[in-house]
Amino acid sequence: MAALRSLGRLVAKKSLKHSSSVGRNQHVRYLSNGLPGLSETHQMLRQTCRDFADKELKPIAGQIDKDCTYPKKQVKMLGELGLLCVDIAEEDGGTGLDYLAYAIAMEEISRGCATAGVITSVNNSLYLGPIKAYATPAQKEKFMKPFLNGDRVGCFALSEPGNGSDAGAASTMAKLDGDEWVLNGTKSWITNGYESEASVVFATTDKSKKHKGISAFLVPKPTAGLSLGKKEDKLGIKASSTCNLIFEDCRIPKENLLGEPGFGFKIAMQTLDAGRIGIAAQALGIAQAAFECAIDYAQKRKAFGEPISKMQMIQTKLADMEVQIESSRLLTWKAAMLKDTKKPYTKEAAMAKLAASEAATNVAHQAIQVLGGMGYVRDMPAERHYRDARITEIYEGTSEIQRLVIAGQLLKEYHAS
Ligand code: CAA
Repeated sequence: MAALRSLGRLVAKKSLKHSSSVGRNQHVRYLSNGLPGLSETHQMLRQTCRDFADKELKPIAGQIDKDCTYPKKQVKMLGELGLLCVDIAEEDGGTGLDYLAYAIAMEEISRGCATAGVITSVNNSLYLGPIKAYATPAQKEKFMKPFLNGDRVGCFALSEPGNGSDAGAASTMAKLDGDEWVLNGTKSWITNGYESEASVVFATTDKSKKHKGISAFLVPKPTAGLSLGKKEDKLGIKASSTCNLIFEDCRIPKENLLGEPGFGFKIAMQTLDAGRIGIAAQALGIAQAAFECAIDYAQKRKAFGEPISKMQMIQTKLADMEVQIESSRLLTWKAAMLKDTKKPYTKEAAMAKLAASEAATNVAHQAIQVLGGMGYVRDMPAERHYRDARITEIYEGTSEIQRLVIAGQLLKEYHAS
């Protein structure tokens, strides 16, 4: 694919292009404080994504939040940068970087715009992730290749109106009829639902088998029998669409089964393990943006004759924010590195998502406190960060589910020793 070049080459080019246009000193200070041990590629990727976010995402984030407008142009730019297929192999047309690179990119994109972050994360990890792992070459040709460069995005349909956390209780049915699967049921809370041109859909072929009856399917959009519910009116990430996918005798070819029949629940769980690293990184980006807003304001705003940053109560808040952000970042990078080195990472991904999402809500809350009245109005981005942060504790498994996953893994580890 001509438009998609290796991000390694692109990173070098973009770094040069942007070097004089954004605050270099700030990057240098940030890099020297925050990046021990990252490879040159990861550092350059981070700089490139940060520059891109400052130039293309931050300026539009407030407006698209107000208008609830999908950032089509910016999604295309993300695709051209190779950021919608970060860990897809180069031979498959992807960027060919690792999951740590994906986590770094996700944080920086989300620091610029949390909506762009979730669109990026769903395409990379929830849509392309299971296709990368389970699709046949023919399926990759149809469902992966057109979804790499931002022309098209995909989505992931697991939750239903009756079951979100209890993902194994899927009641959307898939029946084989000759050479076709016939899908019936409703999938809910589908990010990218309106714009996506294909979906990984989980449906059961035998409800009595519970999670072992669930299979994964690749459903193109539009397809007869597939319609969309209303666009949800959300608290945050307002420029991304979230809706129901409604299947009414929706027929797809037999060959659109993804992976083995009855293996769908495992595919969903494995996909979410990886997806949670992306959401942890999204939460980090939101937290970092809220923190930067707070520290900037604290240094400029004067009260009682001096900048409020001189006051110990403000300093305590800033210090606590930084500790939460940095510790969550380390957990997120650790989970990504475990995945990259093919080690188990279910627990670490859940820990990263739990810590980073709780950090994001707390940091965004404290940022408003630092800004006072200015934090409560739309003139400043702090209230948007606060609204955007909240979803990171809900989607791809609530904080309560992350705690269950962590405890479940711990009990296995300690039982084994
Ligand atoms: N990897 C591989 N297999 C796994 C697994 C994992 N991480 N976790 C569980 N499994 C397997 C188990 O080994 C078990 O296999 P066997 O039957 O062969 O023994 C099977 O799955 C069932 O495991 P459990 O009994 O632990 O499953 P459970 O029904 O108790 O559910 C759960 C576990 C953790 C609660 C799970 O249902 C879950 O993660 N729920 C949350 C769902 C979620 O995150 N939804 C988000 C939807 S996507 C989204 O948010 C939309 C978006 O657009 C952003």
